[in-house]
Amino acid sequence: MTERDERIARLLEAALAARAKAYAPYSRFLVGAALLATNGLIFTGCNVENASYGLTSCAERNAVFGAVAAGCRDFTHLIITTDLSGPTPPCGACRQVLNEFAPALWIGLASPRGLLENHTLSDLLPKAFGPWNLRK
Ligand code: THU
Repeated sequence: MTERDERIARLLEAALAARAKAYAPYSRFLVGAALLATNGLIFTGCNVENASYGLTSCAERNAVFGAVAAGCRDFTHLIITTDLSGPTPPCGACRQVLNEFAPALWIGLASPRGLLENHTLSDLLPKAFGPWNLRK
């Protein structure tokens, strides 16, 4: 296994472990996300639902917010996993939040059996609005 393969394997393991912690009693759709930072650290998130449904927070955004709160803002890779056998892409709101910090992010979509496909954030969110658009 190359060093890169090992990093991806570790990230996948972290995403699967995060998915196991998801709190999704309403949708029963469990999502786990693992974000690899440039400094090698991994930050994870799971979806957290609420009886007031609209307050639900997605796995990917929880991973980003945890990382930023820990002082980390530079990311290279993200893996998203659900219980489904097919790939689950990130929702539009999560794409926008990821774009704030990592417009060139590599995004792997995985099932419990392993990685299914990969994309870049710029493929998933073309012509994105970002911090650069606020500059006069
Ligand atoms: N969900 C995520 O965690 N990430 C996404 O990108 C899509 C949706 C969660 C939110 C909710 O708890 C459940 O999946 C069903 O929408």
